[in-house]
Amino acid sequence: SRAEADALVVFGITGDLAKVMTFYSLYKLEGRGLLTCPVIGVAVDDWTTEQLIQRARSSILAKLGQLDEEVFARFAGRLSYLSGDFADERTYQRVADAVRGFDNPVYYLEIPPFLFATVIKGLSEAGLTKTSRVVVEKPFGHDLASARALAAELHHYIDESQLCRIDHYLGKMGIEEVLYLRFANSIFEPLWNRTYVKSVEITMAEAFGVETRGHFYDPVGALRDVVVNHLMQVVAATAMEPPPGSGGDAIRLAQISLLRAIRTAEPENYVRGQHEGYTAIAGVAPDSTTETFAALRLDIENWRWSGVPFFIRTGKLMPVSQTEVRVIFREPPEFDFGFGLDRGHRPGNVELVVKLDPGTGIRIVLDARRATGLRPEPITLDMEFADEGGEGPTPYEVLLHAAMIGRMARFSKQDVVEENWRILQPLVESPPPVQPYQPATWGPAAAAQLTADYGGWHGPWVV
Ligand code: BG6
Repeated sequence: SRAEADALVVFGITGDLAKVMTFYSLYKLEGRGLLTCPVIGVAVDDWTTEQLIQRARSSILAKLGQLDEEVFARFAGRLSYLSGDFADERTYQRVADAVRGFDNPVYYLEIPPFLFATVIKGLSEAGLTKTSRVVVEKPFGHDLASARALAAELHHYIDESQLCRIDHYLGKMGIEEVLYLRFANSIFEPLWNRTYVKSVEITMAEAFGVETRGHFYDPVGALRDVVVNHLMQVVAATAMEPPPGSGGDAIRLAQISLLRAIRTAEPENYVRGQHEGYTAIAGVAPDSTTETFAALRLDIENWRWSGVPFFIRTGKLMPVSQTEVRVIFREPPEFDFGFGLDRGHRPGNVELVVKLDPGTGIRIVLDARRATGLRPEPITLDMEFADEGGEGPTPYEVLLHAAMIGRMARFSKQDVVEENWRILQPLVESPPPVQPYQPATWGPAAAAQLTADYGGWHGPWVV
């Protein structure tokens, strides 16, 4: 079902995600002329359309500080609200009335996963899911078995081809940049393999903490929150083969064959940290052993990557907020050539860094002997791409638009979800004990051990 949406029905529109992301993203799409259909909000709260419009206004203002009244008036004119209990079949009768006459409504479920099946069943029994796409939010299970069970439940009512699973990293410009740079510039791809690359580092550091999301975060932890989804997308973009052909599923085909080549992770190469003060956060269990920091090693068994470790680390309350991929090349042999270098001088590793957040950019780290200096030293070639003013589309704009126009490559498919769980399942099953770390540090000391044989962690590039 690739047809463009002629209505967008948002379940859970009174909730937090809508407040933080949805109104603002739809408003921005409106401003760019990309929102063309009515938006019908459904939730259990006893609201009116007028209240919904007020909520939209205050959320957009909270995000942007100001709004364009003309754009907002157009957007507000599309909004309507329908109150109903998700467990009550009459709710779906009212949804059916609201979308009568529309050929291709898209349903967006901004609700906790335990309600997915209830709502999809309701829609399906009211005859509303025949041609439509249904957009769902993570988490997609909490391990391999539950991810499979969730999919089986959904597939009972709708086809996999109708499902749009949001992983907002698939709407990030940085991920596309990694793929684009690799394949658009002939100097990189010939070196992008085990012959030249020593290791790959992926860092997603967040200087902020769990804040008001304790209830959500505590049962989840860093591995499930961002590694199994977002960072595995980054691994795939960095390591996949050139996607075959130009079809809409070319990237996914390359992604799935890469994921199949990744060995299941080993708990002895997994470090879990919890920052001091975490258990005092509202919604967090006083004796919680949830990790707010995760560092791990993945190994890929294919011709390109055999023997090249991929190190991943992410954490809350890190020294900086920075997300990047760093490809670290092998050292050349020692040399002198009569340069009179220090005995034993060995240039550092050439590194190629792609920054994903904040903003996108690339850095190349080289060893150079500058005219003024007698000693060679590392130099950096930096290029930042993004207009930091936030003018570019945010991931949610990209993804909501993709859902409306049916660009399915922007969404995770079940095979990818399951491969990611298969890879990380041993870490979920046998997690090592969690180790404390101080806020504003790079996690527990054991994280440094993980990369010790590869020169420690090299990044991140802090701008
Ligand atoms: C979310 C996680 O999916 O991604 C958050 O639940 C995390 O914990 C966020 O902070 C990071 O996304 P971004 O786009 O801000 O890097």
